[in-house]
Amino acid sequence: MRHLIQPEDLSNQEYMELLEATAHIQAHPDLYKERAKGKILGSLFFEPSTRTKFSFDSAMLRLGGEVIGFSDAQGTSSQKGESLADTIRIMSGFADILAIRHALEGASLLASKTSRVPIINGGDGGHQHPTQALTDLYTIYHYKKKLNGHKIALIGDLKYGRTVHSLIKTLARFDVDSFYLVSPEELSMPRHILDLMEDRYPNIKIHVLHEMEPAIRECDILYMTRIQKERFFNEADYLKLKNSYLLDEEKMELAKKDAILMHPLPRVNEIAIELDSDPRAVYFEQAAMGMYVRMALILKLLEEQDD
Ligand code: NCD
Repeated sequence: MRHLIQPEDLSNQEYMELLEATAHIQAHPDLYKERAKGKILGSLFFEPSTRTKFSFDSAMLRLGGEVIGFSDAQGTSSQKGESLADTIRIMSGFADILAIRHALEGASLLASKTSRVPIINGGDGGHQHPTQALTDLYTIYHYKKKLNGHKIALIGDLKYGRTVHSLIKTLARFDVDSFYLVSPEELSMPRHILDLMEDRYPNIKIHVLHEMEPAIRECDILYMTRIQKERFFNEADYLKLKNSYLLDEEKMELAKKDAILMHPLPRVNEIAIELDSDPRAVYFEQAAMGMYVRMALILKLLEEQDD
């Protein structure tokens, strides 16, 4: 059975097929209105979410399917002590596909062991967020018309940010030029991901920085992220780092004219509101495109399940 737990679960060819399918859905949404008729998405969000949960739900509804689930595990049997494995075993009898977000790293992988239907990881702790990476990939493809050759800046919390963990692994497979990894020392990209880059993609240049200006000047894609407050062990550490980077009009003047500015959202205070009207700022479009990407993904997994 197919699941999407981490970026490695899809081949490069499948990524390209999903990008093409997303573009087609976005251009002709009416053609897809009944494609998942009679199917049910279980939307199991044990951790807070706005974009991911509602873009999954909306994607399923726009395909003609139905949605069951929760956005707060209070009120479910997990409060009585039911294990995640048992919750999934039960829910996979009620739904045809499950999207799960959970605070524990590896929760989706565990879920895939007891599920009878495809599992999509909607974020597992500070680990991975493959559908955000797919959304990011599509956004880059949409604006830049290609995936290869880019210089990409990942800025902010690279330690706990699951979106950047999935994005770097996904983009590396498409011959990008370089990554500029900008974070405070305490929040740098995990060693195992840096080692993987070195071993598997020796041609991709990696620049590790603490200042964002050089990256802003050089890069084609600027990807800002929020400091992940909920993953810190104590508040003092968070308070010390929370305002590490603020991208404003003045700093954005350093950027290339055809750069794009992305953010998985929610933003806290990494991007000044004044940049919302900068034509290079695409984060709201990026969020909107997440729905079409999830339509393509749900269809693919449901079709494979039916085969
Ligand atoms: C991200 C997440 O949940 O990891 N949000 C999202 O899904 N768009 C990013 C974040 O919360 O900082």
